[in-house]
Amino acid sequence: MMNLKTTAVLIILAATSFHCSRESKPELAETPENYTNLCVSCHGEDLKGALAQSLVDGSWQFGARDGDLFRSIKFGHPQFGMPSWGAVLDDSSIFELVAFIRKREDQSGAVKPPLPESLETLDYEVNLETITEDVETPWGIAFLDQNTTLVTEKPGRLRIIENGVLLPDPVEGTPEVLAEGQGGLLDVVPDPDYHTNGLIYLSFSHPIVNTDQDTLTFTSIVRGTIHEGKWLQQEVVYQADSAYYSKARGHYGGRIAFSPQGYLYFTVGDRTVMEQAQDLTRPNGKVHRINPDGSIPGSNPYYQHPEAIKSIYSLGHRNPQGLTTHPVTGQIWEAEHGPLGGDELNLIQPETNFGWPVITHGINYNGEIISEHTRQEGMAQPALYWKPSIAVCGIDFYQGDLFPKWNNQLMVGALRFEELKMLDITDDRVIFQQTLLKNVGRVRIARSAPDGSIYVLLNRPDKIVRISDL
Ligand code: HEC
Repeated sequence: MMNLKTTAVLIILAATSFHCSRESKPELAETPENYTNLCVSCHGEDLKGALAQSLVDGSWQFGARDGDLFRSIKFGHPQFGMPSWGAVLDDSSIFELVAFIRKREDQSGAVKPPLPESLETLDYEVNLETITEDVETPWGIAFLDQNTTLVTEKPGRLRIIENGVLLPDPVEGTPEVLAEGQGGLLDVVPDPDYHTNGLIYLSFSHPIVNTDQDTLTFTSIVRGTIHEGKWLQQEVVYQADSAYYSKARGHYGGRIAFSPQGYLYFTVGDRTVMEQAQDLTRPNGKVHRINPDGSIPGSNPYYQHPEAIKSIYSLGHRNPQGLTTHPVTGQIWEAEHGPLGGDELNLIQPETNFGWPVITHGINYNGEIISEHTRQEGMAQPALYWKPSIAVCGIDFYQGDLFPKWNNQLMVGALRFEELKMLDITDDRVIFQQTLLKNVGRVRIARSAPDGSIYVLLNRPDKIVRISDL
């Protein structure tokens, strides 16, 4: 008979030898039966691709998060040849497949490809350089002149890039923001007359505390000047009535654009209460138009309306994170992050209902149908929609001498798809799209700089990249 002591020694030995053999020869995660039966034919036994792409090369077309993989499997991408498996597999089986793919991806040691030094596009061979990696979730960028650039960091800092170098200290005294969820310090835009008045506009998620000690937020805009690294002379340009503030931490919108007439347009998302995008008595889910000092133009479409909020210019928007002015026509273009398959590019017109959530090309992230309708009388269609959703974010028209063929083309950033797209828009129609960057990080926005180069704000990994000629 073995005594207790010997048993203990044997167990330790067994444990040690098991540990050693694991280290010398890593075992691959066991393949679930569902993968063998349903997926091998297209993605390969080793997941490295067969008829369809590899699932272990670190490159994700439809988003890199677990939830993105889950949705790819559950709903498929039928138009790209990926079937939907929601009818065959329950959610827990799908989660098991996601965990399996993730484990194999880790074991394959796939890393994100580094930023290339140059890039061949359809029109130009371009140079790529990293200006800085020393920023956290950069969100907005504004060029004050040839030498000075401002960048907002979502956690609440305003940074200065001077002659291509990021200054170590953020601007002091910028407004307090609530940096939770999608909130934080959002856009930064100079006044059209910046060179004479020095004014800069900031949008952000403004927090207030109610009598129950809950922190409520809403999209807000201030303007001020910067002198010797300090934010000064702050004036509130837009602040909603506290009745509209909410506990939601998403769908702030928050982009600002000036029209050639000097109006300030800005976006507010539906704050995650979709019906409110249709409600003219609420600021949510709208594009607004105000004067730069915050007053409201008497010519606004709902100015005479007895109940409407007078700054409303258009309605029926979900989460508009892109807004820009066409450099030639002066038209206002807007991009909004829809539900799955519902991302939109819109040409903004006054008093126009863009339909959310009555009409949409998307379905909800949990698979629920939001609306059976994609069009309805009295509601505008988008100029373009993306299906599946690319998580469209910032937009800006290219203007500059470096890439003349791209003049007046629209640069579109995509978070989930990690893409920078270039759209050729003629007569209000998108006639061509090309993808300039792919899988180098989430593209928050790309803007054209005064020297004709393009600055791209990337999130995860956080960096600022400059595209110039070779
Ligand atoms: C009939 C072929 C086919 C089968 C079977 C198939 N897939 Fe796919 N799958 C595709 C194609 C094609 C794509 C990519 C579309 C593209 O690259 O444009 C894709 C994409 C995906 C993606 C998203 C990849 C990305 O880059 O974001 C995941 C995840 C995925 N498949 C998992 C699965 C799983 C798990 C199964 C089994 C349940 C499966 N697929 C079965 C063809 C298939």
